[in-house]
Amino acid sequence: MKKWFAVIGDPIAHSKSPNMHSAWFEELNIDAAYIPLHVTNESLESAVASLRTLGASGWNVTIPHKQTIMPFLDELDSLAEKMGAVNTVVSLPDGRLKGYNTDGAGFVHSLEEAIGKHKKEQDILLIGAGGAARGIAFALQEYGYHNLAITNRTVEKAEEIIRELGEGQALSIDEAEQSLDKFGIIIQSTSAGLANSDFKLPLALDKLQEGAIAADIVYNPLMTPFLLEAQKKNAQIVNGLGMFVHQGAISFNYWLGQYPNTNNMIKRLTAELNQLI
Ligand code: ATR
Repeated sequence: MKKWFAVIGDPIAHSKSPNMHSAWFEELNIDAAYIPLHVTNESLESAVASLRTLGASGWNVTIPHKQTIMPFLDELDSLAEKMGAVNTVVSLPDGRLKGYNTDGAGFVHSLEEAIGKHKKEQDILLIGAGGAARGIAFALQEYGYHNLAITNRTVEKAEEIIRELGEGQALSIDEAEQSLDKFGIIIQSTSAGLANSDFKLPLALDKLQEGAIAADIVYNPLMTPFLLEAQKKNAQIVNGLGMFVHQGAISFNYWLGQYPNTNNMIKRLTAELNQLI
């Protein structure tokens, strides 16, 4: 029987996931469909029940349901449980629904695609302490990166993540700016630089190390003010598109046991996003 998948969220119309997964089904000759479903907070529980009843093989979960969906699932992957958020649901062969989180791992895959897997000893500075930062922090630890500092406007939120990780350091924005030259990898995980946002730069980059790696999770625009500034200081740039494509690829792999071609997808979406400029 034809398999079907979905992404649920509110808003959902602009999601790039349906096109991405549909292209991968075609490329890999998989008879499946992937549809965007507009699900409001009030209808989340009944939407999950409907997806279950109607036999979806799995689905992605996006804003604002990544946390609130958790009680409606039967099982959680341990990393998703630690992160406190789910972006992927798998319908297991016995019909149980299991939640995973592929966002943080998607980021690490994208980072390692750009810089290799041999830089685990580097000092890393993560800017931001929201949901996205939390996912990235736990995924970095899971993949063997242990020298992590987190800075955030509200430093208590950075301290909370560090406490849960059981390692690392929380820094005020001021402290992070002053000690920036110590970090080989800087990750921008706040909403700064998003198209249509007034919030441009989360911290001053005056002391950025030459040759440091600067990664952003925002991919629209591809070049955020943070990346432009870092590039001027001769940093190696990693934009947010790789994270988006790899989180999708990891979900795809959970559902279908195959890792789709991410390089072609990144090229294709880069071209699309460049046309928007
Ligand atoms: P997400 O799930 O995308 O991470 P979030 O959980 O709302 O979204 O987190 C947003 C992040 O961007 C937080 O680190 C937030 O800082 P605070 O914890 O201090 O709120 C950061 N952020 C958002 N707007 C900001 C602004 N104008 N100045 C500084 N930091 C900002």
